[in-house]
Amino acid sequence: MVRSYTDEPVDPAVVERALEHATRAPSAGFSQGWAFVVLDRPEDVRRFWAASTETSDEPDKWLAGMMKAPVVIVPCSVKGAYLDRYAEPDKGWTDRDERRWPMPFWDLDTAMAALLILQTVTDAGLGACFFGIVSEREVEVRRALGLPDPGDPHPIGAITIGHPAPRKTGAVGTASRRRRTPWTEVAHRGRFGNGWRS
Ligand SMILES: Cc1cc2nc3c(=O)[nH]c(=O)nc-3n(C[C@H](O)[C@H](O)[C@H](O)COP(=O)(O)O)c2cc1C
Repeated sequence: MVRSYTDEPVDPAVVERALEHATRAPSAGFSQGWAFVVLDRPEDVRRFWAASTETSDEPDKWLAGMMKAPVVIVPCSVKGAYLDRYAEPDKGWTDRDERRWPMPFWDLDTAMAALLILQTVTDAGLGACFFGIVSEREVEVRRALGLPDPGDPHPIGAITIGHPAPRKTGAVGTASRRRRTPWTEVAHRGRFGNGWRS
């Protein structure tokens, strides 16, 4: 994740490729219940930050770096698309009962789409950071983006995109302070609790 950016503009073709890849994410029942609000004009980006942060405060290092990103994409999940899709005859959940769902597939699928955006921009030599929208600001953010409140589409977070600034200018992520757990400690062969090499 990159948390500070240069002034260099982002090639719109990279953004379009990222969105094309996002829509190739897997989705339950091919429901494709997602939407992406793309902010690529300075005034739109400014409106997003004004809505998502406490404007009275001086921006901290994290915010100052993140606000420099010329592009912000807000991936949103659309639960209704899944309830509609699974009410179709081949699925048969006509009661649209949300308790049927083992987990919110709408958020899961949108998160996978978000990862494809991150990977696409990284492959293009740019930097990006996925971050959460704090609950207390969600209503403001929805209003700023033209999203209804409450209901669909639901913003699952936001992604800054830009050319990475030299490392020391931005906030340092927690990955620099915490050990990356090796895959051999989290993969369990045959049964949970089994070591990988035992
Ligand atoms: C659901 C989610 C929420 C995150 N929220 C934030 C955030 O609010 N601020 C931030 O700087 N990074 C955020 N991150 C990025 C993580 O801090 C980062 O992925 C993690 O530290 C590992 O670093 P790396 O992705 O650079 O390897 C978030 C990542 C995820 C998946």
